[in-house]
Amino acid sequence: MNVAVIGAGTMGSGIAQTCALAGHDVVLLDTSHEALQRADAAIRSSLARMVKKESIGEDAAVETVTRVEFRHGISGLESAGVVIEAVFESLEVKREVWGQLAAVTSDGALLATNTSSLSVTAIAEFSGRPERFCGMHFFNPVPMMALVEVVRGLRSREETVEQARAFAEGIGKTPIVCEDKPGFIVNRLLVPYINDAAHALAEGVASAEDIDKAMKLGANMPIGPLALADLVGLDVCLAATESLLSEFGDPKFRVAPVLRQLVRAGRLGRKSGEGFYNY
Ligand code: 3HC
Repeated sequence: MNVAVIGAGTMGSGIAQTCALAGHDVVLLDTSHEALQRADAAIRSSLARMVKKESIGEDAAVETVTRVEFRHGISGLESAGVVIEAVFESLEVKREVWGQLAAVTSDGALLATNTSSLSVTAIAEFSGRPERFCGMHFFNPVPMMALVEVVRGLRSREETVEQARAFAEGIGKTPIVCEDKPGFIVNRLLVPYINDAAHALAEGVASAEDIDKAMKLGANMPIGPLALADLVGLDVCLAATESLLSEFGDPKFRVAPVLRQLVRAGRLGRKSGEGFYNY
């Protein structure tokens, strides 16, 4: 299968790596040369970690790298059977990208967006083929996380949803099909949890270290909420919280001011070297 992944950020590179590791030929596209270079380095480093942990062999890692083509710009995707878009979380950006993709993808392709909190139904309309479109929500770090939420848009055809489910299974993930409601399943629960941890920090309940330690030792979380926010990206957490607030209109999703402030200061978590913690 030829797979096209649009957007070479953290999620796009993880999705490309996972598809290639499963044996698909992947083209990873971005309009930034730097993003493509970073994705190349991230894929090599992630595969090296997997080899070190003996979850894959060295041969598999080498083959995976050769199956990923890094391409600048958006063009020539007629042979892609699956197109997964993982660009910046903005309806405007996604509208523009899907407008371009409509001209260079085939009618029969499975079209999917990796969005954490935007409406799949809305993005599907940008594609011009909403019946062939659904959400495929991956989790960070993609190579390590088992789940893919397969999100049924209002106009997704049942065979499209089934194809996405089967594709996710084929790349070694566990798909769960859900409806296109704000936050789907995981982020509806996880995003308010992270936001509440930021409120608790700002209220002086405890230090960031102690909040995280408490949730690890008292609730058996593999990672504390503030360290998780840094891993996900504070800009992504902020956008997801704002989206829940605006979609539901419920004040329980009120954004923690400290989260907004950190994002304003460019402290986006691990990717910028600083967030709730320094890296
Ligand atoms: N590729 C990429 N990253 C990897 C990796 C690989 N092969 N192996 C590990 N990692 C990352 C981890 O994030 C972390 O970074 P660091 O070493 O640079 O500090 C580190 O590598 C942890 O590695 P360890 O070997 O110590 O840890 P484990 O292998 O035991 O566990 C984990 C790694 C499974 C990712 C674990 O840390 C975990 O469960 N974390 C929580 C992840 C999570 O909840 N993700 C969901 C986020 S929500 C989301 O993505 C939705 C979005 O829409 C907001």
